[in-house]
Amino acid sequence: MTALSQEETTAADPRAVDPYLQLEGITVRFPGVLALDQVSLGVRRGEVHGLMGENGAGKSTLLKVLSGVNHPEAGVLSLNGVEQQFATTKAAIEAGVAIIYQELHLVPELTVAENLMLGALPNRFGVLDEKALIKRAIHELDRLGEKIDPSMQVKHLSIGQRQMIEIGKALMRDARVIAFDEPTSSLSSRETEQLFRIIRALKAEGRAIVYVTHRMDEVYELCDRVTVFRDGRRIETFGDVDGLDRDRLISCMVGRSISDVYGYRARDVGAVQLDVKGLMGPGLSEPASFAARAGEIVGFFGLVGAGRSELMKLIYGAVKPTAGEVTLKGKRVQFATPRDAVRAGVALCPEDRKQEGIVTIASVSDNLNISCRRHFSRFNVLNGRKEAQTAKEYIAKLAIKTRSGDTAIGTLSGGNQQKVILSRWLAEEIDVFLMDEPTRGIDVGARSEIYGLLYGLAEAGRTVIVVSSDLAEVIGVADRVLVMKEGRITGDLPKAQATPDALIKLALPR
Ligand SMILES: Nc1ncnc2c1ncn2[C@@H]1O[C@H](COP(=O)(O)OP(=O)(O)OP(=O)(O)O)[C@@H](O)[C@H]1O
Ligand SMILES: [Mg+2]
Repeated sequence: MTALSQEETTAADPRAVDPYLQLEGITVRFPGVLALDQVSLGVRRGEVHGLMGENGAGKSTLLKVLSGVNHPEAGVLSLNGVEQQFATTKAAIEAGVAIIYQELHLVPELTVAENLMLGALPNRFGVLDEKALIKRAIHELDRLGEKIDPSMQVKHLSIGQRQMIEIGKALMRDARVIAFDEPTSSLSSRETEQLFRIIRALKAEGRAIVYVTHRMDEVYELCDRVTVFRDGRRIETFGDVDGLDRDRLISCMVGRSISDVYGYRARDVGAVQLDVKGLMGPGLSEPASFAARAGEIVGFFGLVGAGRSELMKLIYGAVKPTAGEVTLKGKRVQFATPRDAVRAGVALCPEDRKQEGIVTIASVSDNLNISCRRHFSRFNVLNGRKEAQTAKEYIAKLAIKTRSGDTAIGTLSGGNQQKVILSRWLAEEIDVFLMDEPTRGIDVGARSEIYGLLYGLAEAGRTVIVVSSDLAEVIGVADRVLVMKEGRITGDLPKAQATPDALIKLALPR
C-alpha cells in the first residue's frame, strides 16, 4: 500500500541521509502568532525539496529564517553539519544560501550588471573585483542556456528574465542552498519551462533546492520530496513524490479531505447581461466579441500574453478602446474610467492585486472595505459597524488567517493578503465580475471556498468572468470557456466540449 510506505518515509530520521541543510526545532514567533513551531527538516544535496501548505502555514517564514531575515527564538540551523547563526542577511549570503523571492528585488532603472553587483559582497580584503563577478554571473547564466546582455536596463526585461538575474546573483556567489518562493506565479508557460530546466541543472550540480508552491502539478513535475506545513508545524515529509496520491496531499495540507476542489454546481442562466461587440484596443490583434448571461460563469483560457487581461481592461474602462461597444443589461455603456464601471455594476479584480494597491499599514478591515463604490458614494458615509461586520464575514468565509480585522494587512502571509483583496470585490454590489487569475497564490482549501462563493454569485444572477491560465480551474468552474490566442478569441466551448485537449489546441500558437 502506497500510503504505508509514505508513512515509513516520514518516520525515518532525516539525519540518516545526511542532509546538507538541516533545521532542528526551529521556532519563530510574531506577536500573537507562532509562525514556526519546532520545525525540523533536512534538505539533501541534489534534491528539489517542495514545501506546501495553506496560506499562512509558515513557508515564507521558513525561507526568511534561511536568509537571516527572521530570527528563530529556538532551534538550530546547520549547513553541512556546521551550526549557523544568521544574525544578518549578509551572514546567510556568505554561508552560501540564496533566496529567490516572489517579489524580485531588482532596481528597474539599473542595468543587469549593476543589479548583479548590488547583492555582491566584497572579498575578505574588502576589495571587489566587479568585472570578474559580473563575468561569472553572465557566464553561469549562459551555461544554463539564458543569454542576457549585462548592459541592458532591467526594466526592459520580462519577469522571467529578471528572475534569471536573481538566479545569476545566487550563482555568482556559488550558493549551495537555493530557495524559491512561488517562483512561477507570474511566469508564462515558456518561462516556467525554462526555469524548471535551470532548477534541474542546479540540482544535477548537487545544490540543495527548496521550492515553495501552491501548484500541485509542479510538485509532481519537479520535486523529489515534499514537506507539508500546517499552522507553523511540519506535518509530513513525503519521500516518494511519484507514488504520492493527490487527494492525500491535499488532505494533508488542509487537514480534512476535499473530494472535489471545484465542487461545480450547474444552474440555469438568464438573459444576456454583458454584450461585447467588436471591441478593439491595445493588446488585441482582432476585434473581440462575446456575450455573457446573468447567472453564467464564463472562463477565459489562454497562455500568458494572449490578450485576456487586456480585453478585461478594455471592457472595464481601464484602457480606452479604439473601436467597438459594450452593452450592459441592454444599455450601451462607455466607461471613461473604472469608477464609472463600478458605478454601473462592473468590477475588475486585476491579476496583479499586490500592485493594484493594498495599504500595507492599514488594517485588514480597512483594506477589505476600501471599495470604489463606497468611496465614491454620494454621501460618503462610512458605516463602521457594517464594515467590521463585512470584514468578519469574509475573514470567516475565506478562512483569512489574521488575528483580527484590526491587524495590519502587511503582516499577513502573501496568500492571505490576496484573499483580503479578493473579498473587497466579492463584497460589492456588482452585476458583472471580471476576475483575473482570482486564485493565484491562494491555497487549495481556500480556493475551494472561493469557487463556492463564485457559484453563489452566479446563482444570485450575477455574471462572473474568470480569466485563468490554470486549465483545471477553467474546466472545473466555468459553464462555458472562451479561449484566446495572440490577441484574439479563438474558441467558445460549452462545458461539455471544454476538454483539456480542445482548449490547449485553441490556445497554443501554431
Ligand atoms: N512580519 C510579520 N509580522 C507578524 N506576523 C507575521 C509576519 N510575517 C509573517 N507573519 C505571520 O506568520 C504566519 C506565517 O506566515 P508565512 O508568510 O510564513 O505564510 P506562508 O506559508 O508563506 O503563506 P502563503 O502561502 O500565504 O504565502 C502568518 O500567520 C503570518 O500572518
Ligand atoms: Mg508565503
